[in-house]
This record gives sequence, structure tokens and C-alpha cells, in this order.
Amino acid sequence: MAAQPPEEPKSNSGHVLEDLLKHLSPTSRRTFLRRLASAGVTVALPTTVLGDKTAELPTPAPTASPAPANVPATLQVNGKSYPIEVEARTTLLDFLRESLGLTGSKKGCDHGQCGACTVLVNGRRINSCLTLAVMHEGDQVTTVEGLSVDGQMSALQDAFIRHDALQCGFCTAGQLCSAVACLNEGHATNEGEVREWMSGNLCRCGAYPNIVAAILELRKQTPIGQQTPVGGQS
Ligand code: FES
Ligand code: FES
Repeated sequence: MAAQPPEEPKSNSGHVLEDLLKHLSPTSRRTFLRRLASAGVTVALPTTVLGDKTAELPTPAPTASPAPANVPATLQVNGKSYPIEVEARTTLLDFLRESLGLTGSKKGCDHGQCGACTVLVNGRRINSCLTLAVMHEGDQVTTVEGLSVDGQMSALQDAFIRHDALQCGFCTAGQLCSAVACLNEGHATNEGEVREWMSGNLCRCGAYPNIVAAILELRKQTPIGQQTPVGGQS
């Protein structure tokens, strides 16, 4: 004879509750059920227990969460001071793009995986989608808009163009900010090192060889941030 599959265990919570309710007066029963409903507990009960009183059970009112409070802060972005009031949960990326209109930094994944949102905070590169704006009170934030020197492209930006280091350009702001830090950290001595230290910045167009070439061209130059503009006097 073929073996029978084991029976699924059955929940008996409905039966336990049914027995309990039978011992309560109608008034106590309704009070008890109201409290269960307001606590968000739902249990299937037979109509013999509920009778026609179920229609009287109140629907729990949706609890409205209070609007998040704005937090005052002063951010330094590209050398300018911005006293702001911002929702505490606003990311630095959203703040830069939506409040300051600095849309160079891109929102690729919003999860810290693509590097399109890379900016410099006190000279260190970070994913601005993974940090809150209010956490950077007093920090020096530099976006791609702040890389130009006296309104002209920096040598790195110029090298990106000459080496054709972009196609659609979506990743380029993040690549440039990351490249600045890579160069200033001294992590651009050879191709392998540049590829490793730039690996947090993805380029879906596959412009990697050209990006690496542009960075390597700059590796012996003055640290970025102390450069003269392209065509300027040193
Ligand atoms: S948008 Fe921040 S890492 Fe992708
Ligand atoms: S240039 Fe298109 S994603 Fe990098």
C-alpha cells in the first residue's frame, strides 16, 4: 500500500478563541473583539460566535504618521555656504540635486552600487546617495560643478574629453570626482591600480580604457584642487 503523506498541522487558534468567547457575556465579548481589532489582530471565527454583531465591530482608523520635522543645518558646497532646513531623512544626493539644483551628480542605483552619485566630502569620495545631508554640517562638499577652476575646465576634465573617456556621460560626474580622489590619494601609479581604485564607478558604456588613460595622464600633476585652469598661467 502506498504510504500516505503526513497531514499538514492545523492551527487551532480559532477554536481556542471560540471556546473562550463562549464563556463571556455578549457585552464582554464585543469589548474583547473590539480590542483585538484595534490591535490589528484578525482571527477567523464561526458566525455562531460572532452572530450578527460583526457589523458593529469598528474598523481601526489608519494611524497617520506625523510629518517629519525639518532640521536646520549649514552645508558648504563648492566653496559656498548654504544655511538650510531640510527633512532629516533627505540624502545628500537629493539635497544637491533638488534643493541646490546641482544636477551633475547622478542618481543611478540609489543603493551605493554604481558610483554615479560620487562627490567629495573633505577631499574623500563618497556615494552621496548613501548619506544624509544633515550629517555634513560643516563639511566641505565638492561636486562635479566645483571641479572647474575659475569657470574653466580643470586639466582632468580636459583629459577626459581629449581621451574620449565618455559616451552617454551619465557616469562621468561620478567618474571625475572619483578620479580626483584617486589621483590625490596617490592611487594612480599604473593601469592596474587605477582600475582597482576606480572600481566603484561603473560605466555601462564601457569607456573604461579611455577613463584610465585620462587619469594616468594626470598622475604626475599637481594635486587636483590646486591646479590652474586649462590654458591658464601656472
Ligand atoms: S546612485 Fe549612488 S551609488 Fe548609484
Ligand atoms: S559614459 Fe555612459 S555610462 Fe559611462
